[in-house]
Amino acid sequence: MPSDYRFSSRDAVVCRGVGKTWAPDTPRAHLALTGIDLDIRPGEFVVLLGPSGCGKSTLLYLIAGLEDATEGVINFFGDPVEGPSSDRSLIFQESSLYPWLTVWENVAFGLSIRGASREERRAAALEALREVGLVSAMDKRPDELSGGMRQRVAVARALAMRPKVLLMDEPFAALDVQTRQKMQDFLQDVWRESGASVLFVTHHIDEAVALSDRVVVFTSRPGRIKTIVENPLPRPRDPFSPEAEALRRQLTALLRDEVDRAFAEQEGMGD
Ligand SMILES: Nc1ncnc2c1ncn2[C@@H]1O[C@H](COP(=O)(O)OP(=O)(O)OP(=O)(O)O)[C@@H](O)[C@H]1O
Ligand SMILES: [Mg+2]
Repeated sequence: MPSDYRFSSRDAVVCRGVGKTWAPDTPRAHLALTGIDLDIRPGEFVVLLGPSGCGKSTLLYLIAGLEDATEGVINFFGDPVEGPSSDRSLIFQESSLYPWLTVWENVAFGLSIRGASREERRAAALEALREVGLVSAMDKRPDELSGGMRQRVAVARALAMRPKVLLMDEPFAALDVQTRQKMQDFLQDVWRESGASVLFVTHHIDEAVALSDRVVVFTSRPGRIKTIVENPLPRPRDPFSPEAEALRRQLTALLRDEVDRAFAEQEGMGD
């Protein structure tokens, strides 16, 4: 990794006027996201916060290149995103390990598509599993692991590709509070070492305050950026500091209006 990697002057991800209509030109056409302008710096940790259905996962799919934007452009280190790339790893909202593969085979799965040999794949998996503290689980199957361990394997699988941008869609949502806090600490260590940018979706305001450099707050459907809040809290962070409490309060107020609006709209959908 070049030494200036983390401080590259070029933005990692640039969204200009990005929007997505699902099923365009059909009666089911549905505008999920519109007018998104967002710049992510190399090495930056950006949290996406917004009501259910506002298009957070949709935006991650677009940046991952798994879906095409129907409005605007997305650039990745200066080049337009035109499809998936191992430089942009997505960790899905639902854990998605292959139950019939061992842990290390899951971690190395993307490398087999790149044509790496079995020895190369096993070595890369070992390295990534070391970063998430799960070397001992290397030869187990996913159903032998706890939920938290499975999510660490999913993180290892994303890291094994050495991505420049890690896209994480509520990766810890299914975990209990204590495990989630452990995972947050662990993710911060991994993030600092990797130098990658992280885009992290969550519904948990405490998670946003603990992890972010900036928090992007979305409006309800169609998702637009309502506001971007800087998080200047020094790391390591004290979740009980008055400054953390003030930020939590600010984000809660920003989100409350949009969640109310989203609920009102979803209630009306059946009419
Ligand atoms: N594959 C799809 N086809 C059609 N519509 C979709 C598809 N995926 C998402 N949508 C719609 O787009 C909108 C945004 O969905 P998305 O999953 O991005 O929301 P989200 O902000 O991630 O919500 P949540 O917080 O519940 O995960 C929703 O109204 C959803 O119904
Ligand atoms: Mg989602």
